[in-house]
Amino acid sequence: MTDVLVLGSGVAGLTAARTAADAGLSVTILTKGEMAASATRYAQGGVAAALSPGDSPALHFSDTLSAGGGLCDPEAVRVLVGEGPDRLRELMALGASFDRTGDGGAGAPLALAREGGHSLARVVHAGGDATGFEVERALVAATAGHPGVTIEEGWLALSLYTENGHVAGVMAVPPSAGSWVDGSRAGVGPVGGATAPVLVPARHVVLACGGAGQLFSVTTNPALSTGDGVAMALAAGAAVADVEFMQFHPTALHHPAMPRPLLSEALRGEGAVLRDEQGVAFMAADHPLADLAPRDVVSRAIARRLVERGLDHLWLDATGIDDFPHRFPTIWAHCRDAGLDPTRDWLPVAPAAHYLCGGVVTDVDGAASLPGLWACGEVACTGVHGANRLASNSLLEGLVFGARAADAMVGPLRAARLRESDVMTWPPDVRRPPSIDPPSADDVRGLMWRHCGLLRDGRGLDQVIARLDAWHALVRTAVQVRGTDRGLQRVRSIVTVGLMIARAALRRTESRGGHFRTDFPDRDDIKWRKHISDVQRNRDSRPSN
Ligand code: SIN
Repeated sequence: MTDVLVLGSGVAGLTAARTAADAGLSVTILTKGEMAASATRYAQGGVAAALSPGDSPALHFSDTLSAGGGLCDPEAVRVLVGEGPDRLRELMALGASFDRTGDGGAGAPLALAREGGHSLARVVHAGGDATGFEVERALVAATAGHPGVTIEEGWLALSLYTENGHVAGVMAVPPSAGSWVDGSRAGVGPVGGATAPVLVPARHVVLACGGAGQLFSVTTNPALSTGDGVAMALAAGAAVADVEFMQFHPTALHHPAMPRPLLSEALRGEGAVLRDEQGVAFMAADHPLADLAPRDVVSRAIARRLVERGLDHLWLDATGIDDFPHRFPTIWAHCRDAGLDPTRDWLPVAPAAHYLCGGVVTDVDGAASLPGLWACGEVACTGVHGANRLASNSLLEGLVFGARAADAMVGPLRAARLRESDVMTWPPDVRRPPSIDPPSADDVRGLMWRHCGLLRDGRGLDQVIARLDAWHALVRTAVQVRGTDRGLQRVRSIVTVGLMIARAALRRTESRGGHFRTDFPDRDDIKWRKHISDVQRNRDSRPSN
């Protein structure tokens, strides 16, 4: 039996795996796709850390708290900003190479970018706008050859396995004939029939399986980001919180490609300006930081104008950026593929689902509310993001809390205590007749995008919940009748997590951070400065469904 089973291979999972293996624990990494196919790889902007002489963890702390809309956990943020710089230096010592000023030589100071919500330039980047790619590359290189680490690609984790209230492994389907070791073909290969789920036992299970952007029809997230970790944690009885705070990135390229190509906030840090359909730069009217306002403010400013004016995109004017192809090579390539020249053309942009701020509740050591279960990275709710994540805090979170979780595993098993301010809400199951087919993933995404996206209201959320309740029952029945296949498992995850998001969004009768209710447009600190948690108690392990 492995000591540590890590689900996922992005920055958080690989950091946890490598740190645990360095401490002498045996580690197995189970991934749904290929080892390097994670959302981390797509991150453009960078890693935020207080490294420059004019910066300090205290300033990074206050920027993170003000972006978070009153719901950050100050202790977790203190850990993030305090330990972040050292974790970043460790990553560089492992071989990650970040952009530097001047001639770019190893002794030159790091080049720092500014992004929305940061009061100064503090975002470290690599390859211009290919930071995630470099972080993933360095971590895969450091982890793959580690003698304490076994890598298993192409497995589909179905559920957490619990014994006497402890998480003791996962039920997972091994890859069959290579049919699904490919994130880009997610959903193609059948799982049922030839290959049955098996128990993969472990002393510790680390959920590091990323976010849930694929719940929405427009997203920057890869096909793998279907909320599996949150759905599995909930089914096992672990606490999940803050899922109503889905962050929408304001400037995805308006283009049919999915995931949508991202136009990093760093473009606005370098002087790019949002313009409406008349060419007017509008952000100064909405926030004193104008185009560098926190992400939730910018996304809403765009969304409101789109709805009011019946448009499907606005414009990002990046024509003033010096040396665009060199500073932003990834974005340059995306634009060129779309027939755009960013040095001359304004770029069509619209918001896209980008980052789940909530997730599996953990303490500051990554321990979830069930002994033996840990979570880090986007799947986790460590409390650092509150209602709206500060730009480029996510890679940092993966580095800091992935390492802390691994360090803590060396000690005795324990479980996170739930916050007293949590409001528990998980309504009873609704059971329906088994005669109707389950929905497709696109049915769910369309519904979530229309009624549970950037602008929400009670009526729309009621519709989402009614529909998802029915679909939830149909999916469960389909799993019972015909077993799980990869497509059905994906639908099960997104219906389960979608239902949680919609219920929390309906319950939160105010607007805050990434959650905006047109019928309750104001923030209400008296009633709602607290978290909404979902937890299903007393669940026994169920091998595959
Ligand atoms: C971006 O580069 O705009 C995205 C950075 C992030 O999501 O933190």
